[in-house]
Amino acid sequence: MFKIFGAPMEKEEIALQKQKKEEKKVATELIEGIDIGKKLSVRKKIIEELMNLHRMEEKAKARDRLFDLKSGKMVDEIVGEYEDIVDLSPPKKDNIEVVELHPIHKPFSYIRIVYDNKKHEYQYEVLEPTLSIEENRIFEFLKETLIKTMDIELTEFSEDEARDYLRKNVEIAIRDYSISLSDVSKEKIMYYIIRDFLGYGKIDVLMYDPMIEDISCDAPRVPIYIYHRNYESLKTNISFSSEAELDSFVIQLAQKCGRHISIARPLMDATMPDGSRIQACLSREVSSMGSNFTIRRFREEPLTPSHLVEFNTISPEIAAYFWLAIENGASAVLAGGTASGKTTSLNALCLFIPPEMKIVSIEDTREINLPHPNWIASVTREGTAESGEGSKVGMFDLLKAALRQRPEYILVGEIRGEEAVVLFQAMATGHTVYSTMHADSIFSVVHRLEGDPINIPRIQLQALNIVAIQAMIRIGRKRVRRIKKIVEIVGIDPTTDDILTNEVFSWNPRKDSFDYYGKGHVLDNVAEQRNWTDKELNEEFTRRRDVIKWMVEKGIKNYIEVGEVIAAYYKDPESVMKRVRGSEEKTSKREMKTFTEEGEIKEEEVEEIYIEKKDEKSQEDRDKGEEHEEAVKDTVEGNEIQEEKSGGEETSEDKEEGSGNAPE
Ligand SMILES: Nc1ncnc2c1ncn2[C@@H]1O[C@H](COP(=O)(O)OP(=O)(O)O)[C@@H](O)[C@H]1O
Ligand SMILES: [Mg+2]
Repeated sequence: MFKIFGAPMEKEEIALQKQKKEEKKVATELIEGIDIGKKLSVRKKIIEELMNLHRMEEKAKARDRLFDLKSGKMVDEIVGEYEDIVDLSPPKKDNIEVVELHPIHKPFSYIRIVYDNKKHEYQYEVLEPTLSIEENRIFEFLKETLIKTMDIELTEFSEDEARDYLRKNVEIAIRDYSISLSDVSKEKIMYYIIRDFLGYGKIDVLMYDPMIEDISCDAPRVPIYIYHRNYESLKTNISFSSEAELDSFVIQLAQKCGRHISIARPLMDATMPDGSRIQACLSREVSSMGSNFTIRRFREEPLTPSHLVEFNTISPEIAAYFWLAIENGASAVLAGGTASGKTTSLNALCLFIPPEMKIVSIEDTREINLPHPNWIASVTREGTAESGEGSKVGMFDLLKAALRQRPEYILVGEIRGEEAVVLFQAMATGHTVYSTMHADSIFSVVHRLEGDPINIPRIQLQALNIVAIQAMIRIGRKRVRRIKKIVEIVGIDPTTDDILTNEVFSWNPRKDSFDYYGKGHVLDNVAEQRNWTDKELNEEFTRRRDVIKWMVEKGIKNYIEVGEVIAAYYKDPESVMKRVRGSEEKTSKREMKTFTEEGEIKEEEVEEIYIEKKDEKSQEDRDKGEEHEEAVKDTVEGNEIQEEKSGGEETSEDKEEGSGNAPE
């Protein structure tokens, strides 16, 4: 039996095994043949495209809904079951038109931007649940009870835990005091309890709108103003109703930042838990109208050179210039007025630091954010109330400590006082230093460095290689930021003791573009260090400029991605160039889109915005400055540097002068 049936079985089995083997072979071949990287990148692209589509769809839907909303339709449908919670019906007045409406924490908080056709202004409204008189009383009662009964610091919990803890305690209080509440009322009250205990109280909603750049409260009973990325300065419907309310709010904000503010020490400059910067002032001690505060919202993702080029704050050439300069150890100061974007540019340009370098950053409030692994971020500490001034750790201390850490790059948030001396010593001993400074021209940079309290001897100023001047400028109705000038410090004239400078880039206000006066002193030095001929230097400059242009065109903007491209370029420039050139060919001869609007800009449309920082720069300071002006000369061209005073209008005449190449 076995023998009879055995033979054909064996044959079948062999055939089967053979087939299996073949299948396996084909499968391994298939697997080996597939480039996993390629597959992943294709998949990533598909996902990205899908997400884009989804976003576009959402946008279109939102626009439709908005349209219906504006015409007063569909309110019930949109708000649906949440109708009771927040009143989203269109404004009653005819002259008020809804322009935008977005949820922040659905269904409890929304923001709405309206346009007043009579006053011709936009207004920013925060829409939150309205509490009835009864609900409000219960809310106040519960708040008091919670403050009395809670025996733990909420900050010790994670956010979810704290939320649960609050909710549980509210439930207990409601039960203990036999308060009768409908579900909707309870949720509305819970919203406010969580907002006030865990969030930022009255300004909580503002802290979640990513379109807000800053929030300022100037006094009680005055509306809070915000700076909106699309609509600029806007009045909000939020204000503090009394001095006492605002005072206690400011004290709470300080506690949230782990700081102390009191009548004795009424000023505070701090970082908020989300990374935003806050400057607050308590009570009437030092401000006649009562407490005030300004919050500069944190950007979760720092801007990169790609962003700066895209916004036309710098040109691709300027980026390439800084790339070469930074890599080769030239030191720079970025100067400008308040909110001109100095710190942002500093952070962006520092992405060019080679990835393995040791970096130490020193700041009063944490702003710098880098992808570099070998980076120590230090922050100064003010003396605490308990331990007094002795516990203070200033910039000077941190800088001294930093030098012992043997960093290759030192980044200083802002030069203000004595620490500048150590900074210049650090430069003189071969460290590369990048810093910002509050000054509006090369002349005022030099003047501030040489004057009290910094007093740097002129001979030491030579250690600084580059000064860039950044400004906030209004072009027509748009507020933009531009690096107006990049000036190199070439040396000191031995006979006249004048500082020799050389302008490499300047912004042309008529065309809103940048004039490049050719390689200067810094790039000459780079070529010398690297033993490059002029041709080789030019080639390298062009390559890096093309990498920047390519990143902008490909939308590589995120700081991690940009960091990766830069790191890849340092490791293997050829393969990066292959990608860059490859895609250049693909897009054939299609001209790279220049990011400026073509055509001339009328002079009267260009206006520099210079926000004076009164405590830092007194009139006296500037009067003194004029005496020194003569000393700073652009001897390369033999021209005096023409720097406009703060608040001055940008004149285009400046630009015709001061062009000159580096001394050969
Ligand atoms: N080049 C830029 N383009 C657009 N917005 C910018 C630019 N640079 C900075 N900003 C925004 O301006 C605000 C102030 O920037 P910041 O760098 O802190 O100014 P500064 O250090 O000069 O006081 C921030 O909200 C920042 O996001
Ligand atoms: Mg700054």
